[in-house]
Formats: sequence, structure tokens, C-alpha cells
Amino acid sequence: MLIRHKSPLDIQPSEITSKSVYRDRRRFLATAAFAGIGATFAPLIGPASIALAAAGTKGRKLEGVIPGPFATDEDKTPYEDITAYNNFYEFGTGKTDPARKAHTLMPMPWKVKVDGAAGKPGVYDYDDLIRPHKLEERIYRMRCVEAWSMVVPWVGIPLADIIKRLEPAANAKFVAFETLVDPKQMPGQRFGALNWPYVEGLRMDEAMNPLTILAVGLYGEEMPNQNGAPIRLVVPWKYGFKSIKSIVRIQFVEEMPPTTWNMAAPREYGFYSNVNPTVNHPRWSQAKERRIGDFLKRKTLPFNGYAEQVADLYAGMDLSKFY
Ligand code: MTE
Repeated sequence: MLIRHKSPLDIQPSEITSKSVYRDRRRFLATAAFAGIGATFAPLIGPASIALAAAGTKGRKLEGVIPGPFATDEDKTPYEDITAYNNFYEFGTGKTDPARKAHTLMPMPWKVKVDGAAGKPGVYDYDDLIRPHKLEERIYRMRCVEAWSMVVPWVGIPLADIIKRLEPAANAKFVAFETLVDPKQMPGQRFGALNWPYVEGLRMDEAMNPLTILAVGLYGEEMPNQNGAPIRLVVPWKYGFKSIKSIVRIQFVEEMPPTTWNMAAPREYGFYSNVNPTVNHPRWSQAKERRIGDFLKRKTLPFNGYAEQVADLYAGMDLSKFY
């Protein structure tokens, strides 16, 4: 993502964290933060995971979760890493800001506004939107545009099931999503690192693809705040920034909707943002990635390894143009 200067008002990790935890965090960051922009050597991060465990708050167990399709059998990234190394600019631009600051987010009660070309528009409580559906575990590879990756056991429901219930009209060609705006809950919104609200969008066929889910938890537990409680999108064949967090609005629209990173830096981030090892980011290669916790880099796969499920969606499109 863009490299931005931190506000001097931001509290430094060293101010609120014990020295040993802070030191281990720095080692963790040394490994992972710039994995995609040329780091060739980095320390192993095992001990950091243990230290970071202290930073994560465990959520409540989700009941009735069934195994879903498409689970990868690769090793899952530890809970402590998934919940301690995040991008969530509403809480600051640093990777450890969300874990330290997202306790101010209040994920319940939660409402989602559905509007645009929908047969069933309205303001839905979390319970109305989510509870009618079975929760599935979806163990997905996730690839960040910064060239690091994780394997996350999400809990969620196919977005297609929800969309069908909302009855989009025939002219609904895209689905647009918005994150909450509330600087009291999201202190990073007092600064202009990005334009708020964070917005994202999918073409309707991407939104309806069986891989796309609205996630409400991970590792069988409620979604931690820093990962986008209570509801976030997960689109595993696209770079992580498409997976918008803490969603409060779903809108069905005819035209391609604006998206946050495309507005911030159009040359660097397109609407589609499919994981593509052959199209480099203007400032770094996308050919390889570092799985958090690994020493060596691995090759990035087209569509993040989900080509069989999604390549058809882009048949005939020049993916270097529609990046
Ligand atoms: N959603 C919102 N609202 N704000 C953000 O800053 N960051 C995105 C995405 N969703 C972001 C967001 C980016 S850049 C990534 S890589 C993923 O969230 C990170 O998700 P994770 O922290 O659960 O790994």
C-alpha cells in the first residue's frame, strides 16, 4: 500500500507495550513488513508469534460451523499472527495499530444498509442479515498486495446466498460496499490517510462466485475487531485490500463503483486487483510472496491458486490493462 508518514499523535508501540514484546514485534515486522519490496534475508519469526499472542483478544466461539468447500490443506497461519499483523487504516497505518487500537470498535449492535437496485432494500440488523444462514469454515489463502500471504480459516457465508435474498434488479451490475465512518470508534479516521469511508466493489458475477464470502469470524470464533468485526468481505483470488472490513452498507449499482485504493493511487491499484504474478505493482514485483512465518519466498500463483474457480470470469480480458 502507499507509504505514508505517521501522525505524531499516533502512540508508538514502545509506549504501551512491555519492552520484550515490543522487541519481538520489531523482529516480526522486520520479517514481514517489507517482504514484498526486496528483503532477501529476514529472521525466523517463531518467538514473535508467541509474544504476539499476548496482544490478541480471543473472541467467543461461533456455534454450528460446518466445513465449507474449497479448503486449502496448507498449514494455517497461527491465530496470533492473523490478529496481530493487520491492515486496517481506520486504526492507523502501522501493521500493529489495529491490534492495539481496535478495542474501541463496537461490533454489536450492528446495522447494514442495503440500497440501490435491490428488491429488498432496508436497514438490516446483523441478526437479520446473517443468522438465517449456516456458517461455514473456509480455509483460504490470502495474498496481500504488499507480497505477504497467510492461510486463514475464516467463518462465513457465501455472499451469493445473501445477495439472492436481497433480490438485486436486472440492472444491478456491481455490488458496492462501505465501511463504518465513526472517528470515535475508529480513531484513524481523524486523519486523512485515506478518504473515508473505505469503499470497495465487485462485479456481480464476482460477488456471486461461490468462493466469495461475508466472513463473521476466524478459527471458529467471532471476528476480532482488527480483522473487520462484525462483517467483512473475503475474496481470496484478489489482493487483500478488496476484502473490505466492518461493512455497514451494501449497494447494488449499474456502474463500476469507486474503490478506495484506486482513488488513492489509480496507477497502482485497479478495480479488479486479481492476484497476478505477471503484472507487477509499479514499485515492486508480484512474482513471489512471503508466507507469514516462512523463511523463503514462494511463487505467487495466478488468481492466488483459485484459477480453476475464477479464471473464466475474465475470459477475453487483457489482465495487464484491467489490473
Ligand atoms: N478494510 C478497511 N475498511 N480498511 C482497511 O484499511 N485494509 C485492506 C483490507 N480491508 C483495509 C480493509 C487491506 S490492505 C488488507 S491486506 C486486508 O484488509 C487485511 O486484512 P487482515 O488484517 O484481516 O489480514
